[in-house]
Amino acid sequence: MPQSHLPTRHIETLAVHGGMAGVRESGSHVPTIDLSTTNPLVGVESGGASYENLATGGDLEPGASAVYQRLWQPGVARFEESLAALEGTDGAVAFSTGMAALAACLLATAAAGKPHVVAVRPLYGGTDHVLAAGLLGTTVSWADAGSIASSITPETGLVIIETPANPTLELLDIAAVCAEAGDVPVLVDNTFASPVLQQPAMHGATLVLHSATKYLGGHGDVMGGVVATNREWLERLRQVRALTGGLLHPFAGYLLHRGLRTLPVRVRAQQATAEQLAFLLDGHPALKRVHYPALPGQDPLGLLGRQLHGPGSLIAIELAGGYEAAAAFTEACRLITHAVSLGGVDSLVQHPASLTHRPVEASAKPNAGVVRLSIGLEHVDDLAADILQALDAADVAEAAEGLVRAAEALPQEQDA
Ligand SMILES: Cc1ncc(COP(=O)(O)O)c(C=O)c1O
Repeated sequence: MPQSHLPTRHIETLAVHGGMAGVRESGSHVPTIDLSTTNPLVGVESGGASYENLATGGDLEPGASAVYQRLWQPGVARFEESLAALEGTDGAVAFSTGMAALAACLLATAAAGKPHVVAVRPLYGGTDHVLAAGLLGTTVSWADAGSIASSITPETGLVIIETPANPTLELLDIAAVCAEAGDVPVLVDNTFASPVLQQPAMHGATLVLHSATKYLGGHGDVMGGVVATNREWLERLRQVRALTGGLLHPFAGYLLHRGLRTLPVRVRAQQATAEQLAFLLDGHPALKRVHYPALPGQDPLGLLGRQLHGPGSLIAIELAGGYEAAAAFTEACRLITHAVSLGGVDSLVQHPASLTHRPVEASAKPNAGVVRLSIGLEHVDDLAADILQALDAADVAEAAEGLVRAAEALPQEQDA
């Protein structure tokens, strides 16, 4: 069932003011960073009761001690409250990284005696890896959008999807996936869209996961993960966090909370630039394909506008010259940094098949000619110039490679 927490204010206002309760009254303009690892207790009985409540996933009671940072941290709770308002869920639980957030969901699922997961590829390489390896006691069935229902067994505890998917931006209809999943909770990795462009809980998702390291932080200087969800899962995930310790540091919590305040502005500005670049690159002779949801034919289910409020600021380009051209392009970028990650204010480029999706089994790995671009806040003309010169360089490199291959194919002269 879709959760009914539709924001009463616009997302820009929620982003700026979310998680700020009590700050003004305290005489501050922004929240203070509380680094305490432990918290004074008023009495033995009340301290024990608060411990019990928090270690089993409860909310901090008014006036109660937070006891210990692993159980509750006020700045992290501000970030969680703000993100939940943006996603329209009962609450959110933050973790040290996106993978720690996913691990908590998998541990909670396995602990409830439902260790089977149905997942739709493509997914982020790390997610694919942890599912395929069964590292956390889960088993996986890989399905496509039409075979989710038939893949579910009595042991299935979770359906996992990513839309837009990493790295080639395929879109899935979240409501249709949830309908297929029936009573099985659906986890949507919403990292690529951010709540500015998509709110999966509104379409029936139970768990909305983010690598907060990406758009939520937005500046490439903080790692974090977060799951926005309903009351029941909040308690389960907080308990996993309290007992396994994958918590967010208070300074990371502060940076992520601050990041949310500019999220709508950043996401839309980056998207506007990406959209121009995608249309500029579409049809370029060095490219076999440009993957971008707003390009003609790339949204067959009509999800843009209905589910996804914009195509976002990631573009995947597939070089006609395959791996050699993709590698040469990536290495030829000058303004755009060759680095893993995405969603920050500066543009990044990476080669998924050899990097983020390296652990993915060959049949599900992205094509070796695919390069992923995360578009930042630089001027579109400067980015276009960098991409076009890198495509030229890739073309030259590919031509040279072709000559070497042709020379190697020639009959070798015998030494006299
Ligand atoms: C879509 C997606 N989900 C999850 C993750 C994992 O997040 P983290 O690196 O914060 O652990 C990533 C990281 O790249 C990602 O791109």
